[in-house]
Parts: sequence; structure tokens; C-alpha cells
Amino acid sequence: MAPRKTEHVCTECGTGHPKWGGQCAGCGAWNTLVEEVVGPAAAPAAGPAATAPVQIGDVDPNAATPVATGIDELDRVLGGGLVPGSVTLLGGEPGVGKSTLLLQLLAAWPGRALYVSAEESAQQVRLRATRLGAVRDDLWLSAETALPHVIASVHSLQPGIVVVDSIQTVHDPMLTSPPGSVGQVRHCAHELVAVAKQTGIPVVLVGHVTKEGSLAGPRVLEHVVDTVLAFEGERHHALRMVRAVKHRFGPTSELGLFEMAGHGLVGVPDPSELFLGDRRTGAPGSVVAPSVEGHRPLVVEVQALTAKGIEGVPSRRTAQGLDGNRLAMLLAVLHQRAKVPAGSYDVYASTVGGVRLVEPGLDLAVCLAVASAIGGVPLPNDVVVFGEVGLAGEVRQAAHAGRRLAEAARLGFRRAIVPARTPTPPDGSGLRLVPVATLAEAISAAGLSGSGFSPPTHR
Ligand code: TYD
Ligand code: MG
Repeated sequence: MAPRKTEHVCTECGTGHPKWGGQCAGCGAWNTLVEEVVGPAAAPAAGPAATAPVQIGDVDPNAATPVATGIDELDRVLGGGLVPGSVTLLGGEPGVGKSTLLLQLLAAWPGRALYVSAEESAQQVRLRATRLGAVRDDLWLSAETALPHVIASVHSLQPGIVVVDSIQTVHDPMLTSPPGSVGQVRHCAHELVAVAKQTGIPVVLVGHVTKEGSLAGPRVLEHVVDTVLAFEGERHHALRMVRAVKHRFGPTSELGLFEMAGHGLVGVPDPSELFLGDRRTGAPGSVVAPSVEGHRPLVVEVQALTAKGIEGVPSRRTAQGLDGNRLAMLLAVLHQRAKVPAGSYDVYASTVGGVRLVEPGLDLAVCLAVASAIGGVPLPNDVVVFGEVGLAGEVRQAAHAGRRLAEAARLGFRRAIVPARTPTPPDGSGLRLVPVATLAEAISAAGLSGSGFSPPTHR
């Protein structure tokens, strides 16, 4: 094979430079040069060329059948499991549990598995594996950071799955840029994708995420891989969430839930029980809302606390587990359309249990929690609430109403304040619907009017 060399290429205009520089000589952009390998690529794998066009009906659909990972909550997000030859990127902040989850996955994998630990020594991994009960015969470790060695071990071991922990710490010595740089990460990911496609082995890459939430450096990675999973959770909560941000083999809306325990991550098959476990009924500012993530109903408690602001000082708005911009909008709607003086209060709103939900079906619950907190009046404790709130103060339909209602009924709730025209649940669900068309109507229906703020008089 002809020797390959590298050059620094501008990510904006593609101009090549023999040496790194701050500014591109081609287009004048700053900080856009990334080291890349040039010259002939590695010889393609033996076998018939896969590039000849085929009729769509002749393509074998079963080649992309997912293989279950044995971790139910992960399979739920992946739509069944890992597809052979696919590359999945698991992104998350340091300490969220990426290495733990993947070691558990490899422990449960039926067959030979290779864990490339470019971050921790084999001893460290072994200690963790002992703690997780993940020590088994056909689980192989390689504490290797050089990409050519990683690829060589994949070819010699022929595992059924490969995990590279993390893509930011492997590097190709052929490039002069340091490990973790955009050029290295991009190049290594490309090479590993090629290995996955050639061999049909599913590859999982760990990617560290910066505080801003983007994958450190290379957003480009998201284009290279088939699936991007985001692993989230708050450091002080045991709850961990896995979502697909991109998924070439299925929907991206499913949510996987885990709890970090002393012996690793444990799936949470019944999250509603967990979220409502510590609920104190009869407290103002607390509203129970049936939410839906993907196909999964989650009944959560939304809480609000309000305090009279100081004249002349802008009021504080803090959202935890909810979208802060959406909260600000809902407070304005409450103020303008339902005459709840939210504007003059500091408002703290959160979901309980550390779950992060941004779907608009929670709007009405957030509004009623704030109105209940300002008025100092609790909602009845057998009521659930959902619906999207529009800028005109109207209550709009939310997706999957049936699923939300069924879950609320299962947990024993008796009444639901819902958008007008929500289909009635089947008889025997024990749930009575209270349809509302506006936020003001919802406030009356929840028994909140006539409390600390003047009751809404108009629709
Ligand atoms: P880790 O998987 O190392 O995170 P990442 O690879 O994303 O950086 O796990 C991080 C935390 O999880 C660590 O602070 C300790 C905790 N932990 C448990 O609580 N229980 C366990 O069984 C294990 C293995 C880790
Ligand atoms: Mg780790």
C-alpha cells in the first residue's frame, strides 16, 4: 500500500495546508483547519463489490435485524437491540455511568465481546467488572489507545461486539495532532465505522460531552455514526435517562430509564411508581401530569414555588427538568390571559425525581402548579392534568391522550383536566374527564379561582 500522509484541511472551504495554522489561506476563516489523512485509502475488504446498484426489492431486509443487548431499557431505546455492522455513539457527561452501562452490556452479550478501555487500565476495569458481576470467560479487555492496535485486535479476536471507551482517547499515531483533537476523533471514528461495516460487528463508541451538552469537539461524529444515544442524569439523583438523538434503524423518541445502584445500573420498568413515591398530597404548587415519551407514559409530579418579588428587581425564573424558555412563556400567558399575577413573583418550577421532560403536553400542569402556588390552594389529590397551552390562553390537544389517561387510571387517579375534545376513555377506567378549552377554565376546574388572585372572569 502506498504510504499515506496527512494535511490540514479547512472545514469551511476544503483548502489543504501542509502545516497547521490559525487562519485558512483559502477562505480566510479562523480556527477551521483539521488534520486529515490524504492519499489512497486502505484496500477494500475481500468479497464482491457492494457498490453495484441493486433493485430495492432484492435487498435483504433481515440483514438489519437488531440483536437484543439483554439490557431491556437499552433495547427499548434502540428499537430492539444493536444492528450488525452498526456504529452507536453513547454520549454523556463524565461520571454519568457510560462505562458502567457498557460493561453491563458486554457482560450480558451472548458470545465473545471486546472492551477497548483507552481510559482506564485493565486492572481498573477488572475491579469494576467484579463489582458489577460482569466477569465471564468470553469478555476480552484491551487497554489500548493506538487505533491500529485496536483494529488489529478486532480482526484477530473476531468478537461479536466491540466497545471503545472512549473515542476521545484513542488516537492514530499517523496524525500529528493530539488525542481528543477534532482531526483525531474524526479520523478514528471513520476508521472504526469502516471496520464495523467490513466485519458486520456492532461497535459502540463512548463520547464525552462538554458542559454545554455537545459532544466534545466533533459534532461531525454525529454524522459518521448510525445512532447517537444521549445518557443524561443529575449527579445527585440516581435516575439516569437514555434517549436516541439520532437513530438510523428506528424512532428517536423512546426513553430508557435506569437507577444507579451499588451494583451498577438497574432498569426502571415502572417509572411512574418511582416518581410519585414520595408525593405529599394536599400541598399547594403540586400537580400530577401524565406525560408521554415515545410510547412510554410517565406520570410525574410537577412542582412550583412562588415568592413575591421585590419591586424594581426583575423576578427570578428557575426551571429544573423543564424547559426554561417554555416556563417564561407560560408565566406570561398566565398573567395576560388568565389574570394570575405571575409576573410579579419569583417562580421556581421543577419535575420531581430528576427526570427531564420538555414535551408541550406538560404546559397545563406547569400553569396550574404556578397558579396553585400563588393562590396557596392545593389541587384535589385525585386529579391529573395535561394539555398544551397556546399564546392566546387556549388549551390544545396533546399527543397520545389515550395512553396518558390509561396510565393515570392504572395509578388510581379519578379525574383528569384535559383539552376539550379529548376522546373519552373506555368505560370502567374509573377516570372522569373534565374538558377545558382555555387556561382560565382549567383554573376554575381545578378549584383554584377565588384564591389569592382575583378569579378569572373572561374566557
Ligand atoms: P462511570 O461508568 O465510570 O461513568 P462514565 O464512564 O460515564 O464517566 O460511573 C460513574 C459513577 O457511577 C461513579 O461516580 C460511581 C458510580 N457507580 C455506582 O454508583 N455504582 C456502581 O456499581 C458503579 C460501577 C459506579
Ligand atoms: Mg468512563
